[in-house]
Amino acid sequence: MSKQRAKLVVGNWKMHGRLAENATLLTEVAAGASALQNGVRVGVCVPYPYLAQAQALLGGSVVDWGVQDVSAYAQGAYTGEVAADMAADFGATYAIVGHSERRAYHRESADLVAQKTRRALDAGMTPIVCIGETLEERDTGATEQVVGTQLEAVLLVLSEDEASKIVVAYEPVWAIGTGKSASAGQAQQVHAFVRAKLADKGAAVANVQLLYGGSVKPENAQELFGQPDIDGGLIGGASLKSKDFLAICQAAQNASN
Ligand code: PGA
Repeated sequence: MSKQRAKLVVGNWKMHGRLAENATLLTEVAAGASALQNGVRVGVCVPYPYLAQAQALLGGSVVDWGVQDVSAYAQGAYTGEVAADMAADFGATYAIVGHSERRAYHRESADLVAQKTRRALDAGMTPIVCIGETLEERDTGATEQVVGTQLEAVLLVLSEDEASKIVVAYEPVWAIGTGKSASAGQAQQVHAFVRAKLADKGAAVANVQLLYGGSVKPENAQELFGQPDIDGGLIGGASLKSKDFLAICQAAQNASN
């Protein structure tokens, strides 16, 4: 029997933002999110330099904050890297790992993503593990093989208890930043597959929150979030406008009614 899982909406700002505009966005999101009910959780993953600002403006609000990546190493001579513990020092509770932009532009392997997941957990954060196929992979029928392999690499290094603490985001690469979201049916189909893979790891893991990401907008959010295995969204472009982001959070609330 599946439990009712709370909805979660997380913004991924990517490499956007400046101090002044962030202040407005964070303040508006904190104010708008305070009206949400039904246990909808909201988070924003900001660029590292703005973590302190997120902490200052979101501390005491219902909105959590986090980062978009962490180092695979705990500390040491890794110039330019940021350790999970450093992010945790600033109250970060979420760490996106394995985003397709990092897999593609920074050649992150499945094993590296697994190590990053472990570091985030060790620092007491919730890793949001991103998986997803390219258009070519979808067109050749390889979607399940690709997302299954990406997920397995992470589950392999975690105990059942650790695995029960992650969040997984299914983000088809062809839907990210393109304006072309997966249909609710397409997304649900992959989510059901991912849910079954998680369940293989143990009963506690079957109920981790499974987010959809890729061109989520106020117009399509409710239908996506209403699917049985979609527990919310990882939101890129639309998380940069408070009105759109809050409308998506509201859609999560409506979908959980
Ligand atoms: P998008 O990005 O909402 O702009 O498509 C989603 C993501 O990359 O997390």
